[in-house]
Amino acid sequence: MRPGGPAADDNGMRLLARSPERRVGRSRDAAEPGSTTTVPATAPQRTGQAQSAAPAIIELARVEKIYHSAGGRRGGRGVGFPALSGVDLAIAAGEMVAITGPSGSGKTTIINLIAGIDRPTAGTVTVSGSRLDQMTEEMLAVWRGRTIGIVFQFFQLMPTLTAMENATLPLDLARLGPPRERKVRASHHLATVGLGDRGDRLPLELSGGEQQRVAIARAMACEPPILLGDEPTGNLDTGLARDMFELLKGLNENGTTVVYVTHDQALAGMASRIVSVRDGLITGDSGRRP
Ligand SMILES: Nc1ncnc2c1ncn2[C@@H]1O[C@H](COP(=O)(O)OP(=O)(O)OP(=O)(O)O)[C@@H](O)[C@H]1O
Ligand SMILES: [Mg+2]
Repeated sequence: MRPGGPAADDNGMRLLARSPERRVGRSRDAAEPGSTTTVPATAPQRTGQAQSAAPAIIELARVEKIYHSAGGRRGGRGVGFPALSGVDLAIAAGEMVAITGPSGSGKTTIINLIAGIDRPTAGTVTVSGSRLDQMTEEMLAVWRGRTIGIVFQFFQLMPTLTAMENATLPLDLARLGPPRERKVRASHHLATVGLGDRGDRLPLELSGGEQQRVAIARAMACEPPILLGDEPTGNLDTGLARDMFELLKGLNENGTTVVYVTHDQALAGMASRIVSVRDGLITGDSGRRP
């Protein structure tokens, strides 16, 4: 959606999500991974039953992640905790994938690796043609701004910025368009998530569900080819959560690859594919395709 597109309000989600303009933007973005370390994605390796001729836009190969804590409050020698123990996961462009599993199984770790927020201890992470494990933090920051929208498990809004400023932030960081145009785009996204009249509020002046919707508007800011959600509707009531998922589904139908974590089986069922994680391993993959 570009400024000047269909007017958005609480009922405008589908208008935004299904705009044909998005598909054009999508393929252009996907063709420009935006990193000088860009390498061709290796041949897709499918997990479970998921088989597709489409190339992988996201590929984790033999990924291990060991967290080294400082020994907790007692300090002392660091101990390694294996959060992921050999994950192979390939997701094709245009898929909508739900990741489910018990608490502590490694779901957030997988999302953070795909976003380049965290690095694998072993194995490779290739997203949109770029080997994230080989990129510097600076490269990752630029790449992430162009490629990934993410809704965090605990929102992570900037507390001193208003809802509007939070929703504009990714556009400012990516320096996308003139500042006035960025505001138009951000206010459009805020209206899309039903917060058109709350743009001047600070996060603390919003309810948990409203903060979460600001986080969704922020993730949509640059209209990225990949949208990641870590329990993206965990604080919304059932009706609103479903509305938000309709929005994600609409974005997906227009070409956005969507990967989200959820504990909710009904919401997982809205995906075209469900990947189950347990004890740092993928233990199930429905491989259902759109
Ligand atoms: N920074 C860290 N240092 C040490 N251990 C960590 C760290 N982050 C996560 N872990 C551990 O790694 C494992 C996987 O964590 P992760 O956050 O990926 O789980 P999750 O599946 O997202 O759980 P939840 O559903 O509760 O959000 C957990 O056992 C967790 O305690
Ligand atoms: Mg988590």
